[in-house]
Amino acid sequence: MTNSRLPFMINPRLDLLTDYPFQRLTALLQDPPGAEPINLSIGEPQHQPPAMVTRILAEQAAGWGKYPPTIGTPPFRTAVGAWLTNRFHLPAGAFDADKQILPLAGSREGLFQVIQIVCRAAPDQPPPLVLMPNPFYQVYAGATYLAGAEPVFVPASRESGFLPDFSALPESILQRAALAYLCSPANPQGAVAGLSSLRRTIALARRYGFVLAADECYSEIYDQIAPVGALEACGGDFANVLVFHSLSKRSSVPGLRSGFVAGDARLIDAFRRFRAYSGTAMPLPVVAASTALWQDETHVVENRALYRAKMDAAAAIFGDRLGFYRPGGGFYLWLDVGDGEKAALRLWREAGVRVLPGAYLGRPGPDGVNPGAAFVRIALVQDLATTERALERIANTLVTA
Ligand SMILES: Cc1ncc(COP(=O)(O)O)c(C=O)c1O
Repeated sequence: MTNSRLPFMINPRLDLLTDYPFQRLTALLQDPPGAEPINLSIGEPQHQPPAMVTRILAEQAAGWGKYPPTIGTPPFRTAVGAWLTNRFHLPAGAFDADKQILPLAGSREGLFQVIQIVCRAAPDQPPPLVLMPNPFYQVYAGATYLAGAEPVFVPASRESGFLPDFSALPESILQRAALAYLCSPANPQGAVAGLSSLRRTIALARRYGFVLAADECYSEIYDQIAPVGALEACGGDFANVLVFHSLSKRSSVPGLRSGFVAGDARLIDAFRRFRAYSGTAMPLPVVAASTALWQDETHVVENRALYRAKMDAAAAIFGDRLGFYRPGGGFYLWLDVGDGEKAALRLWREAGVRVLPGAYLGRPGPDGVNPGAAFVRIALVQDLATTERALERIANTLVTA
């Protein structure tokens, strides 16, 4: 007998992940805050969730004693199908809710998992490519690396309207693409893809045989015009397209962990088979509460008005300073501050306001430049008075003239 132990075998792909942005922010902001702290760094809605949530969870408590089905319940699928059809003007009968919808424990879970059903491991071939905007929601890259695929970071800077133009990629890249993530309204910039641009991207996905994963979790938080969605741009045939939606932002319930994926029936079937093994089916009380939330628009209209009031306040405070613009959707400000990391540090030390350096959401391009480096992302998730106080402090700290 010896005392020696074999080392653990840790998946080396984990080394490809950078620290998550909020870990990096904690490391950056070690000093005490310069004033009473206000956190605008994380996109976690702080508005009051609708009262029906706690009521329904209590009424449906017997459901905690059951293993939930992967596909949710018929009322859930019907409610989501009706919501999608109405919200995105889908042709009547073009959408089979029983075959084209799967509940998710938040859209994040599905965005992370989708790659498992589209990236095949082919030992004699180079790894598949996954297209994504840059800057981007970090889960896209994490999912890509852990699946043994390679990310292609497609600039989503001011020049491209803060959205990625996949059609500008070389043929050699498009041919190896297995998946493309598109976020509209975009986190962090709030840009909204138009119908013709979505149609072009879907045509590209079909021509080159990749899947479009349309992350639309911010679709219900908008200023004036309801953003169009990828299903709407499909022309009645959902081939190659999956859309991801969530109640986290729409209904201010990030802790409920409730979302869904919908679209191409073949992909949904593959996803269902995958998820029968991976687990995390949505618990039945959560399914019941989610069903009711998807059926109700009143609370969503009220929620949107709260965000709009905060965007009004931001417009009044910043005007055209720090590159302020009113995003088409989402609840973030994407301010051009010259050096985002320096500005975030200063805002914390001098004003107690916690914001996220844009660089933590981007990767350097071939020119070595990180397209987020000049920006900070500010999440307007607190109440109006707190948000106004924080934005005044930001303006007073960063605006010199
Ligand atoms: C762009 C984007 N996609 C997806 C998500 C995941 O949200 P959830 O899992 O709460 O639905 C977030 C959350 O902040 C996000 O910003």
